[in-house]
Amino acid sequence: MVENNLSPVSITSNLRTHFVGQRVIYYPSLTSTMAMAKQEAQLGAVEGTVVIADEQTAGRGRIKRVWLSPKGSIALSIILYPSVVNLPSLIMLASLAVVHSIEAVTGLRSQVKWPNDVLVNDGKVCGILIESSVRGNIVDYAIIGIGLNVNLKLSDFPEIQSMATSLSAELGRDVSRLKMVRRLLVEVEGLYLALQAGGSIYEEWRDSLVTLGRKVRVKSGETVYEGIAESVARDGSLLLRHPGGNLSKIVAGDATLRE
Ligand code: BTN
Repeated sequence: MVENNLSPVSITSNLRTHFVGQRVIYYPSLTSTMAMAKQEAQLGAVEGTVVIADEQTAGRGRIKRVWLSPKGSIALSIILYPSVVNLPSLIMLASLAVVHSIEAVTGLRSQVKWPNDVLVNDGKVCGILIESSVRGNIVDYAIIGIGLNVNLKLSDFPEIQSMATSLSAELGRDVSRLKMVRRLLVEVEGLYLALQAGGSIYEEWRDSLVTLGRKVRVKSGETVYEGIAESVARDGSLLLRHPGGNLSKIVAGDATLRE
């Protein structure tokens, strides 16, 4: 039987971080950890505060999509107060932290689909949502939301079965959510401290992208781009080469990999 208890004490005891995950707010069930983390951040929660739920009833995805997070998955949000220069790197930081943690806990190799979906064997295993409040050069707060399909039987969720996967489905056995959460918090803090110290995580993020060199379709707002994903810029945007030779810089969007 794997350890699945996500109580604050089980997460925080002997956790090897300075601040990320040292305060944990846990709910058996919650609408969305993002909504609760936002309230906490507005009240001035200490940096690294984590809001975590066993299940969400109104999980939020990117581009106003719904995020399914039933029991067995991980749904958590981390409150940070980064400088404005490090804000664009949070996307990279979060996806790399997930890639590192999956590998450390399960041995599975994962890749990032631009901008920040994590895939195992081409199936989406994790979605990441970053929400922030910025005024001029001041970041009031940033919240990293991570939804990880840990112990999900995909056949129970036909609506996502064709594009999603879970760690248990890949491994054929259940995985400890507790181990995964604790590792994630350590990885997030390590990368965040590296960023604050002036380090770069861009190169590793770029090299972990499954998207580059592939034919892609990218929806950005109402615009749809098609072409080859040539590269990514240091600010995280995608450089897409059109069939006619022109290059587009796409700051945000949703990419579909073509054949
Ligand atoms: C996506 O791929 O569209 C992003 C999904 C992000 C889901 C996580 S689960 C924890 C946090 N709370 C939410 O409501 N959303 C994020």
